[in-house]
Amino acid sequence: MPNLVTVVYKLDDDPTAVEHAAQTIRAGGLVAFPTETVYGLGANATDADAVAKIYAAKQRALNDPLIVHCAPPDDDMAGPLNLRELIGNRAPFVLEELARQRIIGALSIAQRLRANALIGSFWPGPLTLVLPRGSRIPLNVTAGLDTVAVRMPAHPVALALIRRSGVPIAAPSANRFGHVSPTVARHVLDDLDGRIDVLLDGGPTPIGVESTVVDLTAYQPVILRPGGLGREDIERVIGKLGTLEQGSGGAGEHGAAQSSPGTLSKHYAPRAELRVASDTPHLLALHAECVARGLRPGLLVMAGQRDACAGLEPQFVLGKDLADAARNLYAGLRALDDDGVDVILVSAVEQAGIGEAIADRLRRGAAGRRD
Ligand code: TXA
Ligand code: MG
Repeated sequence: MPNLVTVVYKLDDDPTAVEHAAQTIRAGGLVAFPTETVYGLGANATDADAVAKIYAAKQRALNDPLIVHCAPPDDDMAGPLNLRELIGNRAPFVLEELARQRIIGALSIAQRLRANALIGSFWPGPLTLVLPRGSRIPLNVTAGLDTVAVRMPAHPVALALIRRSGVPIAAPSANRFGHVSPTVARHVLDDLDGRIDVLLDGGPTPIGVESTVVDLTAYQPVILRPGGLGREDIERVIGKLGTLEQGSGGAGEHGAAQSSPGTLSKHYAPRAELRVASDTPHLLALHAECVARGLRPGLLVMAGQRDACAGLEPQFVLGKDLADAARNLYAGLRALDDDGVDVILVSAVEQAGIGEAIADRLRRGAAGRRD
C-alpha cells in the first residue's frame, strides 16, 4: 500500500505548484488536480507502472477503464472560453494530433465525422469520447479494451498540468473506490491523503458531476454515462443517440467490461442509505417514517423546498436550479454522511440537461442501499 507524504498546493499562492506537479507526473507519480467536473487522480497515461499506482491508491478494480486527459496542440494558452472558439475551428487538427501521438487509433469515416463535430462543439468541456485505442496507451488504462476514453478538460489548472507534463494524463475521479467523486480538495484528502504525491487545490469544481461518456465506436453512438453535458446538446450535433438498453451500444460490441463500471450500483453511493422521494410531500412523509423507525434522517433540498422543510435538521441546500444541484450534490452527500445520519432523503429532479446525470447518480446511490 502506498505510504506517501501528500504535498498540497493552494494554487493562488504558489506559482511553482503546477511545475512541481508536472515533474511528478513525468517521474511516474500521482497528482490530484481540479477539472471543471470533479477532481481527477492523474498519472502519465503512457506509463503502465504509473497507471498501476492509480488503481492501487484508489483501491479500484482493474476492469474499470480510465479517461485519458489531453490538452490542445496549440502553444498559445488561451483561456477556456477562447480555447473553445479556437478548437471549434480546429477540431480536425485536434483529432489528427491525438492520432499522431498514438493516443487514439485509426478511425472509420463515421467515427471521424462525429468526433470532429463533437470536439468542435464541446471541447474543452465535460464530454468524454470513446474511440479506438492508440498504441501508446497501455492496456491497463483501458482495462484491456481496444477502445480508449479521451477528453479535454475545460479547467486552466488541468490544461496547464497536461501541457507542462508533456504527456496525456490518465485520471479517474480522485476518490476511493465506491465513494462519491471529490468536488473540493478537502474531499480528495479525506479519501487519499498519504496515497498520492501531490494535490493541486484549485477550489471547488464548477460543474460538480463527472463528464458525459459517449461511445463513438458503437454502430449508433450511445451515452455510457450521463454527465455534465446534456443529451440534448449532443443530439443537436450528431443526431439521435442509441440507448444501452436497446442493445445498440458499445456494450454489445466490446463486451461487458466497458459499461460495467458505471453499472456498479454502489459506485456513487454515500455511506448512509439514500432514498429518493417523488416530490416534497413524499419527502416529508419519508422523513416522518424514518423518525418513527428511530432513524436519523438528513435532507438534501432545493431552495424552493426550504419552507416546507423548515426546522428539519440536518439539511443541506443544493441551490436554486439543476446546475446548482449538480455542483453541490457530492458535497451535500459527504456533509450529511459526515454528520452521521442514517438516511439521506432527497427529491427526484427533472431529467432534462444535467438533470439526467443527477438522477443517474441518485438512482445509483439509492440502489447501493446497505439495508
Ligand atoms: O469528469 C470526469 O470524467 C472525471 C474527471 C476527473 O475527468 N473523471 C472520471 O473518471 O469520472 P472515472 O474513472 O471516475 O470514470 C470513467 C468513466 C467510467 O464510467 C468508465 O467506465 C468510462 O469512463 N470509460 C473509460 N474508458 C472507457 C472505455 N474504453 N470504454 C467505455 N467506457 C470507458
Ligand atoms: Mg469515478
